[in-house]
Amino acid sequence: MNITFSEKMSKIKGSAIREIFKVAGDPSYISLAGGNPSPDTFPNVELSKIAEKYLAENPVLSLQYGVTEGYMPLREAVKNRLRNRENIGTENDDLIIVSGGQQGIELCSKCLLNEGDVVIVEEPSFIGALNCFRSFNAKLVGVSVEEDGMNIEELESKIAENDNVKIIYTIPTFQNPSGNTMSLEKRKKLYEVALKNNIIIIEDNPYGELTFDGEKVPTIKSFDTEGIVLYAGSFSKVLAPGMRIGFCMGCKELIGKMVVAKQVSDVHTPMITQLMAYEFIENFDLDGNIEKARMLYAHKCDVMIKAMDKHFPDTVKYTKPKGGIFIWCTLPEGFDSIDVSKECMKEKVVFVPGSTFMVDMEKPCNSFRLNYSTMDDERIEKGIEILGKVLTKLTK
Ligand SMILES: Cc1ncc(COP(=O)(O)O)c(C=O)c1O
Repeated sequence: MNITFSEKMSKIKGSAIREIFKVAGDPSYISLAGGNPSPDTFPNVELSKIAEKYLAENPVLSLQYGVTEGYMPLREAVKNRLRNRENIGTENDDLIIVSGGQQGIELCSKCLLNEGDVVIVEEPSFIGALNCFRSFNAKLVGVSVEEDGMNIEELESKIAENDNVKIIYTIPTFQNPSGNTMSLEKRKKLYEVALKNNIIIIEDNPYGELTFDGEKVPTIKSFDTEGIVLYAGSFSKVLAPGMRIGFCMGCKELIGKMVVAKQVSDVHTPMITQLMAYEFIENFDLDGNIEKARMLYAHKCDVMIKAMDKHFPDTVKYTKPKGGIFIWCTLPEGFDSIDVSKECMKEKVVFVPGSTFMVDMEKPCNSFRLNYSTMDDERIEKGIEILGKVLTKLTK
């Protein structure tokens, strides 16, 4: 049978990175391509104790259906953390537990987007969110990301050029893929612009806790008095992504609608992993685990940057992130990073070409993303040395 797929899904194409991910799990390759957290940060011993305890002592709570909003004590624990650590949450806000931040973005899109509505995205941006907006037949409009975040003048002109902008999607802290962080000034300006134009901001912040030097720029949600920011957070990078625990905080009206959307999506996030997250927050050392991840990634980032300083030609520029797990590299104009990627694959080194993170994925792109979270120091150094040689050869 010839299956006729929906128009929505026809917008989402398999990309050049499919080939990369096919080999990224092959141990003979050095993969600087993924976005996975390091398994060394998974508190598996503690989590297995918690799971065993709940399954033995509280099988009904662990295995029965739960409520769509999420396990109430977990919701309260997350709200407390957000209030104490990020100064987030007003009496008009509510919080839903979602099956990863990705689901939060999807539920919000489902509630807000009609076909043809415009979503403003940073360019480059997270492929999972871009594909989500594409799947709702939204029109994506890109705004460039500078060292201190989104270009606000460009944002204002893109809003003026497009009638029906519904959402501005931003990853302001340790952005995926650029590693950049938006300044406080720009966050305030972005908020003002969105408010003036009646646009919802999705503030996606899965990497915010992974600061290397402890510095934190206030979240956009922390000055959201009008309920226009949906804050999406996740335990994927600070606990374990396979648990699929994320959360969204936004105005009660939007969260209420997202609850209805979640009912027809997966009913609720699995109870057993919600209980594990709750118990870990309450009775184990989540902050200690975050600290461990921060130190590990600060070290790995340093190893990668030092190797890049040594092996990359001067013409290739790169970001020096202060947190998170990605570095963004840019070749001189006229080069296409896919060519670099093909050469490197022959040498068994993989990374993600920049076009993957763009609104127009077909257009050649002279940037690419490197990840340092999963390889050991030796493989990071070796991978960068090989990449440096390829870059030197191609750009001379
Ligand atoms: C920017 C960004 N947002 C959201 C997600 C989704 O994370 P999860 O669904 O595991 O919470 C990711 C995952 O890599 C990401 O990089």
